[in-house]
Amino acid sequence: MGQTYTFTEFGPAAFTAALDRFIVVYAAAMNPPARQLTGREAILERHATYPRFRALAAVAGDEIAGFCYGFHGAPGQWWHDMVAAALTTLDGSSGASMWLADSLEVAELHVLPSHQTRGIGRELLFRVAARRTERTAVLSTQDAESRARRLYRRSGFTDLLTGYRFSGGEPPYAVMGAELPLRDASPSS
Ligand SMILES: CC(C)(COP(=O)(O)OP(=O)(O)OC[C@H]1O[C@@H](n2cnc3c(N)ncnc32)[C@H](O)[C@@H]1OP(=O)(O)O)[C@@H](O)C(=O)NCCC(=O)NCCS
Repeated sequence: MGQTYTFTEFGPAAFTAALDRFIVVYAAAMNPPARQLTGREAILERHATYPRFRALAAVAGDEIAGFCYGFHGAPGQWWHDMVAAALTTLDGSSGASMWLADSLEVAELHVLPSHQTRGIGRELLFRVAARRTERTAVLSTQDAESRARRLYRRSGFTDLLTGYRFSGGEPPYAVMGAELPLRDASPSS
């Protein structure tokens, strides 16, 4: 690896205080249109108020090289309600309840391009999901064969929804779920 990373936990207050540093990582990893960044910052700030919020950063020297956070999913949260409705349409209420009733929502995972492919993404994901009491972990990612999608599959996540559009203007997403604790999936699964 060559470089040493320290994995540092940020509680809600510390995360909110360092929001501009996390947004820098988000912007470099996702390359979104600049006009979306203010809205994204507001979303991250809101997420930090959700129950059992837990964020981890991979720190290299003074730099945040990557971060991941999650919280307990609950009715009234926008993502939770959208996904619950879509899963209910697909599978009936038992399908939605099986995945969402006691779930860790992994909301963001990003690594600076210059620090990718060193195992940091996997490490952050497993650390955020470790020692949780929820039964499942759920997340969404663009519905494409991306590095993120491969990482989630390798970590035991399977597709719950594909081609799902959270809103008209957005690309299709895949919603994925895994039972906790996370385990590396066998190569054939
Ligand atoms: C998705 C993302 C978080 C993964 O982070 P990462 O630190 O690169 O992830 P890892 O290093 O754990 O795994 C990435 C790859 O490196 C490989 N790798 C990991 N450690 C390695 C090592 N020591 N030597 C060689 N390869 C290694 C993995 O096998 C994996 O290969 P793959 O891409 O062919 O599947 C990161 O790529 C990212 O920020 N992407 C853009 C933003 C994004 O899509 N975020 C997710 C939104 S849902």
